[in-house]
Amino acid sequence: MLKTPKIVILTGAGISAESGLSTFRAQNGLWEGYDVNDVATYEGYMRNPVAVHDFYNMLRRKLQNPEVKPNTAHFALAQLEQKLGSDNVLIVTQNVDNLHEQAGSKNIIHMHGELLKVRNEKTGQIIDSYYDVNYHENKLIRPHIVWFGEIPLQMEEIYNAISQADYFISIGTSGNVYPAAGFVQIANQVGAKTIELNLEPSLGKNLFQTKIYGPASKVVPEFIEKFI
Ligand code: APR
Repeated sequence: MLKTPKIVILTGAGISAESGLSTFRAQNGLWEGYDVNDVATYEGYMRNPVAVHDFYNMLRRKLQNPEVKPNTAHFALAQLEQKLGSDNVLIVTQNVDNLHEQAGSKNIIHMHGELLKVRNEKTGQIIDSYYDVNYHENKLIRPHIVWFGEIPLQMEEIYNAISQADYFISIGTSGNVYPAAGFVQIANQVGAKTIELNLEPSLGKNLFQTKIYGPASKVVPEFIEKFI
């Protein structure tokens, strides 16, 4: 019997764009109206914690808008995991939304944290959080988000998985932010097949062996179908 392939899938904001969530670097993207130094660094948080909580409260509310739902790309990845088994399919997402979970994926690493979680700065305890956070009620609670200058989560697990991967598929990410933008190089080094599925060529486009460009809701289900 043929061995089941091991697949690592890196996702970015582009996979959730058609679900109604803004990407970061597009025109009218999230970073256009904000200075990342203010809302996405620990220094910004120290300077103005209330403004930073306001920003994540706004994103948390957007995510929980009933119109924001997983799209066919999220569902295709969940189906892939169901078919090949959770030991063989890992989603490493840079997204802080929970649309992969909503679609039914189980084996997910949120390397940049999660919007619907907060963390106690003193104890490190991670707590589910569906409502606005009020800094004045508890000054130790910060968003469970990896900010610029902080170390992404579960890196050892991610590198282990990529080193064993037969396929590395990157979906909906511009390739601007490391370490995620460097994963494709490791995948190439270990002999994995590397595939980019994105609306447009990413910064790392030349590092991928196969590239398919178009909206995630179309190109992801079409590509995944061949494994199912
Ligand atoms: N289908 C597929 N790809 C899309 C779609 C779509 N419908 N819409 C946009 N894209 C692509 C864009 O072409 C772009 O290449 O998704 C990519 C989104 O890029 P970014 O906005 O830079 O988002 P991402 O790569 O996820 O950002 C990485 O940067 O600011 C940090 O922490 C934040 O996790 C984020 C990280």
